[in-house]
Amino acid sequence: MSNKKKILIIQPIHKAGIDLIDNNSNYDFEIIQNIDDKNIKSKIAECDGLSIKTAKLSKELIDISKKLKIISRHGVGYDNIDLKSLKEKKITLAITTTSNAVAVAEHVIFMLLNLCKRKDMYDKSVKTGNFLKRNMLPKTIELWKKNILIIGFGRIGKSLIKRCMGFEMNVFVYDPFVQREIIEKFGGKKIENLKEAVKSMDVISLHMPLNKETKDIIDYDLLKSMRKNCIIINAARGGLINESDLDRALNENLIFGAGLDVFETEPPKEDNPLLKNDKVFLSPHTATFSEECMIRMSNETIQNIIDFFDQKLDKSKIIKF
Ligand SMILES: NC(=O)c1ccc[n+]([C@@H]2O[C@H](COP(=O)([O-])OP(=O)(O)OC[C@H]3O[C@@H](n4cnc5c(N)ncnc54)[C@H](O)[C@@H]3O)[C@@H](O)[C@H]2O)c1
Repeated sequence: MSNKKKILIIQPIHKAGIDLIDNNSNYDFEIIQNIDDKNIKSKIAECDGLSIKTAKLSKELIDISKKLKIISRHGVGYDNIDLKSLKEKKITLAITTTSNAVAVAEHVIFMLLNLCKRKDMYDKSVKTGNFLKRNMLPKTIELWKKNILIIGFGRIGKSLIKRCMGFEMNVFVYDPFVQREIIEKFGGKKIENLKEAVKSMDVISLHMPLNKETKDIIDYDLLKSMRKNCIIINAARGGLINESDLDRALNENLIFGAGLDVFETEPPKEDNPLLKNDKVFLSPHTATFSEECMIRMSNETIQNIIDFFDQKLDKSKIIKF
């Protein structure tokens, strides 16, 4: 019988990571495209390790595994995995800590500039032969000297602040778990009182996890207290902003616009009013979808599995629970 470790790759990943495991004689692997529970159930019992993107890994599925030692998440969020079962079965969970911060931070800037520069209107005006009517278009907005509040100062928040500094923005940071000195080292100002701070912001960008404390952290009351020109970007997790409150605030002109990469329900329901709201700029949870980021994530996901079995997986990649 082969003593190779058996690795399940649940949901295809970039070829770079596949090559990495394919060229390692210690492993057999199988890629699972069909993420129905029934299909995963039939494969999970005998695997030693697995990689996973966004598919749900429930207690029922984890309980079937007999040899599973390591789950390597292709990404950094792990709300799709039942942590209680992992703890009971002493299964390690690793994430791709070094791969995606830059891609998400760039995506935030992309959304922000699209909204500020009114990309759709300006692009359409030329394409529809209205070049000379440009003076009738609403003016664009500069980022220079604008106040931005970054909520959550982890990997992505730290990557975003560097890009904001390039635009010479005034950066404020709200993260109760990060010391003032660290925020100041990056050129930001630490905020203690979120409710007070939002009143003077031109941009607010969310970069913290979704949990009981952060669910609906941006609600109607908070939106009502913001500047009328304020733009909110959420490339973290749906549920941090209450979507119906956001739609209401936009329709009542309480804020200028929003950029959303993530939604309370994904994909968003057809009747979600935000899908028809011209003041929002949307993307389908694709902040990390640069070719470069996909290669990094794929490599890191597989390398984490290999490092785990070689007993050299960096502690910073392991989730403590
Ligand atoms: N759109 C995407 O494709 C995409 C990609 C990667 C990550 N994400 C999401 O982005 C978010 C941030 O990821 P990260 O890698 O920077 O995570 P991270 O763990 O490095 O940082 C999260 C930060 O949030 C802070 N935080 C926790 N609770 C908070 C609260 N109540 N208020 C303010 N700050 C709080 C933590 O102290 C930490 O510094 C996560 O929700 C992650 O799931 C989305």
